[in-house]
Amino acid sequence: MKEQLEAIKIAASKAVDAANSEKEIEELRVKYLGKKGELTALLKQMGGLSPEERPKMGQLVNEAKQTVEKLICEKSEELKAKATELKLKAETIDITMPAKKKTVGKLHPLNTVLDDMIDIFQSMGFDVLDGPEVETDHYNFECLNVPADHPARDMQDTFYLGENLILRTQTSAAQVRTMETRKPPIRIICPGRVFRADEVDATHSPVFHQIEGLVVDKGITMCDLKGVLEQFAHEIYGPDTKVKFRPSFFPFTEPSVEVDVTCSECGGKGCRVCKGSGWIEILGAGMVHPNVLKMCGIDPEVYSGFAFGIGLDRLTTTRYKISDIRLLFENDKRFLGQF
Ligand code: DAH
Repeated sequence: MKEQLEAIKIAASKAVDAANSEKEIEELRVKYLGKKGELTALLKQMGGLSPEERPKMGQLVNEAKQTVEKLICEKSEELKAKATELKLKAETIDITMPAKKKTVGKLHPLNTVLDDMIDIFQSMGFDVLDGPEVETDHYNFECLNVPADHPARDMQDTFYLGENLILRTQTSAAQVRTMETRKPPIRIICPGRVFRADEVDATHSPVFHQIEGLVVDKGITMCDLKGVLEQFAHEIYGPDTKVKFRPSFFPFTEPSVEVDVTCSECGGKGCRVCKGSGWIEILGAGMVHPNVLKMCGIDPEVYSGFAFGIGLDRLTTTRYKISDIRLLFENDKRFLGQF
């Protein structure tokens, strides 16, 4: 039995030496020290020994057990230390390496200006609505007092998707949808994309943006329209900006005006941006035509209203001194990154 014990000790020591992982160490622990392990088996065999030999042998087996246990523990600690060292090495940070470049997204200039406009109108109590880009003839023209064959249709070159289906040429279509679904008092703006079959050049694009405004209530007059638009122009362009109302024509308003502001580039002296006039046109507006109110189910004898349509692209190009409207739609990051 003594020899057996020695043999086990030598074998265990070799095996522990050769072990290379926590898993192998655990297997050795079971093999030698477990319930069915080799040393435990020896202890069980002691029943066959004489009473004098038994305590001696018992002591030897226990000593062997402690030796093997110690070997296993030491090896296990060693392996753990090695693993930690490897992990630390793998995770070291080279602080001399150049940092990764982070590109941060920015708002498109059109969105920045739109957000400002929304803030201004919301502070005056306007709701912000959305309208469909694919519209029917009914909402885009008919109910805005532009029947089929009316010459005013020539003012806007239309993309047709079907006989009655078009891409909206103006956000004014939202006026009709609003009046059909809301009762006065109405105070809304509707920003969005509009589409016209225009030739593309530095000031024209087949897709551009408008913000429609509509106010309907009892006793609304041209003074309210002037007040709101002047306030808007002062907030967007600064308090010294002058605002000019020129008589104009739109089929859905009577009277109609076009609104100019003093050129923000030259302050009104005349320059390349305002083509020497000192003024820049920013919107069309007017008092809602009684026919339009009627077609939308609102009694023009009781209610009156004003409406306006602001060109967002023009406002953006003048604010940022952008010389070509096409830049707004090309999504060139080198251009957009400047704002
Ligand atoms: N829809 C017009 C256009 O696209 C702009 C406009 C003018 C809108 C007068 C209005 C308005 O609401 O009252 O040219």
